[in-house]
Amino acid sequence: MKQVVLDGSHDPRELRNALGRFPTGVTVITTRTPSGKLEGLTANSFAALSLDPPLVLWSLGRKSASLRGFVESGHFAINVLRSRQADISHRFATPRENKFEGLAHAAGFGGSPLLPDVLATFECETASTVEGGDHLLFVGRVHRIAYGDGEPLIFNAGRYCTSLPLRDGFARSDLDGIWDGLG
Ligand SMILES: Cc1cc2nc3c(=O)[nH]c(=O)nc-3n(C[C@H](O)[C@H](O)[C@H](O)COP(=O)(O)O)c2cc1C
Repeated sequence: MKQVVLDGSHDPRELRNALGRFPTGVTVITTRTPSGKLEGLTANSFAALSLDPPLVLWSLGRKSASLRGFVESGHFAINVLRSRQADISHRFATPRENKFEGLAHAAGFGGSPLLPDVLATFECETASTVEGGDHLLFVGRVHRIAYGDGEPLIFNAGRYCTSLPLRDGFARSDLDGIWDGLG
């Protein structure tokens, strides 16, 4: 194991490398600003926060072009991508004036765009924002969800991957016990 002390003189890539050891799904988070502009970005900072009330969270880089739009709109939609949607992830991670050009979408809660054929969607109202260093943390109250079956897109060690269930892993029924049936 490589050990690094984060004392200010460290290489910033080291923290990224360590964080990259924690695989995540990939989402596109969208909103419609009060002036009607559609904004969206690829984000893997999405996480569950609370079941009751239903809350989720994610963080947005302070330098992001869409920061103001997300703060002013007061709502957002989380679109969880499928393994075959790496092209959509790339599109929304690349700055451009209109990331939605030529892409079908529907209006969700507050007008936040919902992308077609994704694995799951969470339509949220912004409950609070929290300063988080070079990012702004958004906490969302979930108003509507939708989900299907299929393979998620995974981001691991800086690469897009797919998931493979462990053949000799714990039985689903064991995990259901731990998560009280909600896992
Ligand atoms: C897999 C992946 C995950 C990302 N996660 C985040 C994230 O959680 N928060 C964030 O601010 N940017 C994240 N980014 C970077 C943004 O998608 C990218 O900087 C985007 O262009 C920002 O939107 P903007 O063009 O509106 O500034 C991620 C990029 C990738 C490829």
